[in-house]
Amino acid sequence: MAKVALVTGGSRGIGAAISKALKAAGYTVAANYAGNDDAANGFTAETGIKTYKWSVADYDACAAGIKQIEEELGPVDVLVNNAGITRDAMFHKMTPQQWKEVIDTNLTGVFNMTHTIWGGMRERKFGRVINISSINGQKGQAGQANYSAAKAGDLGFTKALAQEGARAGITVNAICPGYIGTEMVRAIDEKVLNERIIPQIPVGRLGEPEEIARAVVFLASDDAGFITGSTISANGGQFYV
Ligand code: CAA
Repeated sequence: MAKVALVTGGSRGIGAAISKALKAAGYTVAANYAGNDDAANGFTAETGIKTYKWSVADYDACAAGIKQIEEELGPVDVLVNNAGITRDAMFHKMTPQQWKEVIDTNLTGVFNMTHTIWGGMRERKFGRVINISSINGQKGQAGQANYSAAKAGDLGFTKALAQEGARAGITVNAICPGYIGTEMVRAIDEKVLNERIIPQIPVGRLGEPEEIARAVVFLASDDAGFITGSTISANGGQFYV
């Protein structure tokens, strides 16, 4: 039977590319989304991938959503924590609300999802957890103290949990995309993007969502069974660790 993969924020941007790539690789895919019904309906119509609406920032909603998916599709073998938001502002202008929203979704959301799925993976002695962090969790980014803190937190979470999952056949890894040509990046002021960001990318272009999706498919595969606690950077050479 096909393995089941659940992708949060899986109907748009990098998440949509991940959902499609996992489907093409033979997985039964469920795509979670939080807000945009039109995008989710269009995505399902285009791909045949079912979408499920809840906010990853809400623990009880995660538990209910995952229960529904497991009843409909079977136990989740592969969890891709991709859902993320930005509330960019220079720190002296950042509001507590902007801080909280980003931490709740981008960091606590990863806890909420993984915590709910973890017990089943341990019982079945198999699991793949793939956390989509960011270059800005590695290097920090002016205007993103909230986002950089959350994404760096995701990397610490990945490394700690990899150690706990290892004996139970669960790998936990992170991917740090650089600047990828999604709505989130295109929302940056054009002047900032063209004058301050793209010139810092050695390959001279934004990445494609599919370039992240292919790394996810690899980490989900049996071939990647010895890789755990790792961070794959996919950023066009913008930052090395
Ligand atoms: N480093 C140091 N200082 C910087 C800076 C930088 N990178 N960027 C801006 N500043 C300084 C400016 O020079 C300016 O200083 P002065 O007032 O002394 O002139 C001050 O900060 C304010 O700059 P802005 O006029 O740009 O301020 P703003 O309030 O209009 O905009 C901002 C602030 C919204 C954060 C804007 O700078 C911005 O959008 N920056 C890009 C942030 C970014 O990279 N976000 C990534 C989003 S995509 C994503 O998150 C996906 C992923 O994982 C990569």
